[in-house]
Amino acid sequence: MASALPHLICCSFLILLLSATAQTYGNVSLGTSLFADDNLSWTSPSGDFAFGFRRLPGDGDLFVLAIWFAKVPNKTIVWTAKNGYPVPRDSKAELTTNGELVLKSSEGTVYWDAWKTENIENVEAAYGAMLDTGNFVIASKNSSYIWESFKYPTDTILPTQVIGVKGQLSSRGSENNYLIGRFELHLLDNGSLVLNQMDLQTKFPYAAYYVSNTSVANPNESSYRMVFNESGYIYIQIKNGSISNLTQANIFPPTEFYYRATLHFDGVFIQYSHPKTSHGNETWSRVWSIPDNICVATYSTYGSGPCGFNSYCKLGQDMRPSCGCPPGFSLLDPNDQFNGCKHQYVQECKEGRSGAMDDQFEIIEFPHADWPLTAYEELSPYTKYECRKSCLRDCFCVVAIFSGTKEGEGSCWKKRLPLSNGKLDKGVNRIALFKVLKPNASLRNPPHSVTKKNNESTLILSILLGGSALFNFLFVAAIFLIVFYMFHKKLLTLRQFPSTLETNPQSFTYKDLEEATDGFKEELGRGAFGIVYKGLLPSGFRNHVAVKKLDKVLEEGEKEFKTEVSVISQTHHKNLVRLLGFCDEGEHRLLVYEYMINGSLSSFLFGILRPAWKERLQIAFGIARGLMYLHEECSTQIIHCDIKPQNILLDESFTARISDFGLAKLLMSNQTRTRTGVRGTKGYVAPEWFRNKPVTVKVDVYSFGVMLLEIICCRKSTEFNMKKEEEAILVDWAFDCYRDGRLGKLVEDDEEARSNMKMVEKLIMVAIWCIQDEPSLRPSMKKVTLMLEGVVEVSAPPCPFILSSFS
Ligand SMILES: *[C@@H]1O[C@H](CO)[C@@H](O)[C@H](O)[C@H]1NC(C)=O
Ligand SMILES: *[C@@H]1O[C@H](CO)[C@@H](O)[C@H](O)[C@H]1NC(C)=O
Ligand SMILES: *[C@@H]1O[C@H](CO)[C@@H](O)[C@H](O)[C@H]1NC(C)=O
Ligand SMILES: *[C@@H]1O[C@H](CO)[C@@H](O)[C@H](O)[C@H]1NC(C)=O
Ligand SMILES: *[C@@H]1O[C@H](CO)[C@@H](O)[C@H](O)[C@H]1NC(C)=O
Ligand SMILES: *[C@@H]1O[C@H](CO)[C@@H](O)[C@H](O)[C@H]1NC(C)=O
Ligand SMILES: *[C@@H]1O[C@H](CO)[C@@H](O)[C@H](O)[C@H]1NC(C)=O
Ligand SMILES: *[C@@H]1O[C@H](CO)[C@@H](O)[C@H](O)[C@H]1NC(C)=O
Ligand SMILES: *[C@@H]1O[C@H](CO)[C@@H](O)[C@H](O)[C@H]1NC(C)=O
Ligand SMILES: *[C@@H]1O[C@H](CO)[C@@H](O)[C@H](O)[C@H]1NC(C)=O
Ligand SMILES: *[C@@H]1O[C@H](CO)[C@@H](O)[C@H](O)[C@H]1NC(C)=O
Ligand SMILES: *[C@@H]1O[C@H](CO)[C@@H](O)[C@H](O)[C@H]1NC(C)=O
Repeated sequence: MASALPHLICCSFLILLLSATAQTYGNVSLGTSLFADDNLSWTSPSGDFAFGFRRLPGDGDLFVLAIWFAKVPNKTIVWTAKNGYPVPRDSKAELTTNGELVLKSSEGTVYWDAWKTENIENVEAAYGAMLDTGNFVIASKNSSYIWESFKYPTDTILPTQVIGVKGQLSSRGSENNYLIGRFELHLLDNGSLVLNQMDLQTKFPYAAYYVSNTSVANPNESSYRMVFNESGYIYIQIKNGSISNLTQANIFPPTEFYYRATLHFDGVFIQYSHPKTSHGNETWSRVWSIPDNICVATYSTYGSGPCGFNSYCKLGQDMRPSCGCPPGFSLLDPNDQFNGCKHQYVQECKEGRSGAMDDQFEIIEFPHADWPLTAYEELSPYTKYECRKSCLRDCFCVVAIFSGTKEGEGSCWKKRLPLSNGKLDKGVNRIALFKVLKPNASLRNPPHSVTKKNNESTLILSILLGGSALFNFLFVAAIFLIVFYMFHKKLLTLRQFPSTLETNPQSFTYKDLEEATDGFKEELGRGAFGIVYKGLLPSGFRNHVAVKKLDKVLEEGEKEFKTEVSVISQTHHKNLVRLLGFCDEGEHRLLVYEYMINGSLSSFLFGILRPAWKERLQIAFGIARGLMYLHEECSTQIIHCDIKPQNILLDESFTARISDFGLAKLLMSNQTRTRTGVRGTKGYVAPEWFRNKPVTVKVDVYSFGVMLLEIICCRKSTEFNMKKEEEAILVDWAFDCYRDGRLGKLVEDDEEARSNMKMVEKLIMVAIWCIQDEPSLRPSMKKVTLMLEGVVEVSAPPCPFILSSFS
């Protein structure tokens, strides 16, 4: 081994020398390598095709291993290794001494190994070869092929290439992104050639948008092949020899033309020809393509169509789509017209479905356009005027499609986001009526301030109207789809440009935030740390934010502030409010959080109408999980110190999100009790604050217990205007009821809860465990979560109160 090493190094040095001076034509001997950073390739004997690295356009210094037309000016790529997996500059492709074709890094990490794709073992390879057909092969000693690139097509097939039953082509992500895209071509086992869209995450195929007429009824004759023969014709061949032509046009002799057929990233499958003699100005010209019109063909309930969500598709001269955004929308990614469009505002339905919105919105007519399949309401017979009005007054309506005579009656379909499969075509005899913001209108959303009592009843009303909640849910789901889509796109770009992406919070200037909050105009609430204002950031998707102005921050806590901000911003959990950014400018210390559209748990719980039992349970479970995360799962343990309903916020899906966490350190030099006094809020504060005992995570468990009782009973922890005096202090009353077996009294007129007394009892028992005066008796939040979820049995709790003579 030891003596083989220098030999090896010497050998590869020789190869380096050799490859630096000569391009390899035809046969590639075993043990040869190609490097991404030299410009060499393995070329076919005629020079028509080349195998090697191609640099991806863009900033990242990334390459793909590919086969391309070497004499065509644009060097059109016809195949990529590992579906266009981008690799860094120090990568190499090696035909090893035993004939394996591998793509690896300079350190030897193997990205891709051709043989692994079909478990080739125990064969004796002789050489590799780039053939004149565009097929790269590894041949065995007896000249049969062990591996060939033609067996693993990506998005293109070439003359002499054959696709067998269950074979497929996959489109690439976009023009310059060779990773797998949304469209597929399949040859089914009954002989049908189909094109379909798929879900990129799961590869789940959606309904086909093109099905060929090539299948036969008798499945026993169905040994099919899709053949691209050497004369340049594509057809489906049945086992018994009969064929079904796909190429109908006349084909020029392949001695003078190159041919290829590509499934494009926009879903169109096209056969092209390209003259071989070169003047430098030749291009690929279309021979035939399927489907006839991609814009009208992609009718599947799922997926966005070729142009992405919320866009329209217009068929071009070359049978490929071009995309655009309808009125009120703009491109999600300004550099990619195929990635869909975003809405100019996020529409919020608050006071039921019909709010008079004529003053803020207007209708823009967009003729010859349609977004089929996504209507949520059909109104017929309806005039165009009625259709306009109906959409304007309906907060879910984004566009109404009208079909009918100019002034007479017709049909009206109302649609919500996201719009899919949009098409714009002179043949579409419909008018799209888009609801857009008036040029000067700003969205006047009634704020859900936690301090304004009068809004709470309407808020809760709208939550509780069942139908309305359902529509809310659907609307939110629609938005999530778009976000998901954006996220996915991001994921792709991330994969393409691997870099360490830090999730540092954004730093804002005071002026930024002053502008965002319109001079700190709209107050959302006041907390222990200062006032919270509503703000609007100029860009971004969900750009409403809550800006917290800290007022009692330690003077010389400069470094500490930065540390705390970075700790807080590293806590990501679905039950925590996310910190988006901060401002640290002299005396100005501000924190920028996500805006929580549904206000605080306090207004939700203690409003006029009692929220549903199930919803309350979900919220309680969510808070428990959030606290468990703060105590046990995030990198730095965080004691909240001020758990109370005012600090629990509700997002658009009424998920509980804990706010104000991690701020305790900003107010005090350490996270233990100091002489400056008790932190926390009366009624929720654990007794150790008053006794000379250290403060631990158990203070949060105590506050959680109190709040859990509030959630169960839908009342505040202390209420002095109760009819009966013994009910004034919730923790006392709850324990009395539990001890006396009168739990029903706690949920007296709550039908939902009363029908589930077993659950009520369990929750009360958990709560009593949490409010034990002795901290060590209180369970950890992890145990609380397990008890709530029913994983751990809840035992009977002892009396929580240490005798009063103690204090
Ligand atoms: C490649 O090698 C095979 C077998 O050794 C030989 O038949 C063929 O002619 C070679 N091709 C070229 C272009 O050298
Ligand atoms: C590689 O080829 C490209 C284009 O032909 C050229 O611009 C570049 O300078 C070449 N690089 C090297 C290292 O030869
Ligand atoms: C060549 O060798 C392979 C195994 O290495 C074998 O499967 C194949 O049948 C052989 N072909 C011929 C023509 O001998
Ligand atoms: C062929 O098979 C596919 C899937 O199995 C099916 O959807 C399609 O209808 C079949 N075509 C014919 C003509 O039977
Ligand atoms: C398939 O055949 C049917 C009837 O024979 C015809 O209406 C349809 O247009 C054909 N589809 C294609 C894609 O050729
Ligand atoms: C198809 O072929 C299989 C065996 O090859 C046979 O068992 C089956 O009966 C045949 N089906 C028909 C419909 O001919
Ligand atoms: C290729 O297919 C076409 C159409 O089926 C046929 O006319 C032609 O003869 C075929 N060429 C060869 C070389 O088989
Ligand atoms: C092959 O099968 C097809 C479909 O069943 C039939 O139409 C054709 O006549 C057959 N051809 C021959 C040569 O048997
Ligand atoms: C397919 O196309 C070729 C060339 O145009 C033609 O010769 C042949 O008859 C066609 N075959 C069928 C089955 O249509
Ligand atoms: C390309 O250029 C040649 C001569 O420069 C000219 O004869 C030919 O018409 C041009 N072709 C196209 C498609 O413009
Ligand atoms: C080469 O590619 C560019 C961009 O993809 C395109 O605009 C241009 O028309 C192509 N040229 C030829 C000759 O195909
Ligand atoms: C809208 O704004 C423009 C320019 O800012 C102004 O000229 C116009 O009067 C405004 N219209 C209304 C209705 O406020």
